[in-house]
Amino acid sequence: MKIAIMGAMIEEVDPFLDIGEHEPLLKYFKKHNDIEYGGNIYHEAKYKGLDIVLAYSKIGKVYAGLTAATMIEHFGCDILLFTGVAGAVNPKLKIGDLITATELCQHDLDITAFGHPHGYVPEGRVYTEASRDLIRIAKKVADEKGIELKKGVIATGDQFIADSKRKEWIAKTFDADAIEMEGASVAVVCEALDVPFFVLRAISDAADMDAAFDFDEFLKHSSQVSSSFIVAMLEKISQNEDIFEESK
Ligand code: ADE
Repeated sequence: MKIAIMGAMIEEVDPFLDIGEHEPLLKYFKKHNDIEYGGNIYHEAKYKGLDIVLAYSKIGKVYAGLTAATMIEHFGCDILLFTGVAGAVNPKLKIGDLITATELCQHDLDITAFGHPHGYVPEGRVYTEASRDLIRIAKKVADEKGIELKKGVIATGDQFIADSKRKEWIAKTFDADAIEMEGASVAVVCEALDVPFFVLRAISDAADMDAAFDFDEFLKHSSQVSSSFIVAMLEKISQNEDIFEESK
């Protein structure tokens, strides 16, 4: 099985960057092949018998969609795991908490002028569902390791939200728990191409007036929380590769 692991920023896929030597594959993947394609670098590696392709896309929905599509169509990945940070919308989520998306939506997609709901375009849907199999694996990993993993709606848009009013609007309109800038575009690509996907985020800020400061302060630590969990998931997947064959 070939697994795509992606984030948006280098810190999200390489949060151990300044600890010892620069080692781009989450420090866990030792030998790797670096391939340039479509303006990005993709790292091919092996981990516990699994083939891995790892990359960061750059920030935002367009770059993230391009990277996800490339990992699937060019590199032949069978499943995709997204790791990174998010702003909390649900007040129960605190900095460092882990949340996985049950559904994702685009909070900045707006053709309401034509009578459509926010986040909707004809022939699309407001919400895209993440893989229930991968969420189940994540829950098992969390239970075994005593890690609290929350689940909820993640809202995506090409905006860094640092404004309580806008945050509350997103919370109310989409019943969202967290916001970020890539997840829903990756979700749309994976669903269209029939590839199970999983979006994991550790909270870096509360999308309020302190968000930019908190983001800079906690980006690295929250990225470590998220990427370490992804590595634990890889171990579980390597022991249960047939799960995906069964549910296909
Ligand atoms: N990612 C992390 N924090 C965010 C925020 N406040 N807005 C958008 N994306 C984010």
